Amino acid sequence: MSKKLIEAGNTKEIKLGKMKRIEIGNKAILICNVNDQFYAVDDMCTHEDSSLYLGCIKGDLVQCSLHGAKFSVITGEPKEEPAEVPLQTYPIVIKGETIFVEI
Ligand code: FES
Repeated sequence: MSKKLIEAGNTKEIKLGKMKRIEIGNKAILICNVNDQFYAVDDMCTHEDSSLYLGCIKGDLVQCSLHGAKFSVITGEPKEEPAEVPLQTYPIVIKGETIFVEI
């Protein structure tokens, strides 16, 4: 399947340490601001399918609100149990102030 760029927001709108949830088809993706760099990961925790948008970002980690698993939003790797499976990550492209996610 060919990849495409989907408009995901504005660099001024997603503040430092915050995230934005976007829906693309049947999938939800988080756009996260870590040190004014933007990263995109699946919104669904790999432990038990809870939305990570209900959690919070600390540094480069997003923490699930249900059982506390933490994932790197940069690599998708799980950094704290109980999650063991990485999150899917997506490339970000910035044009001017507009953020695009490559799906
Ligand atoms: S559902 Fe996220 S840690 Fe359990």
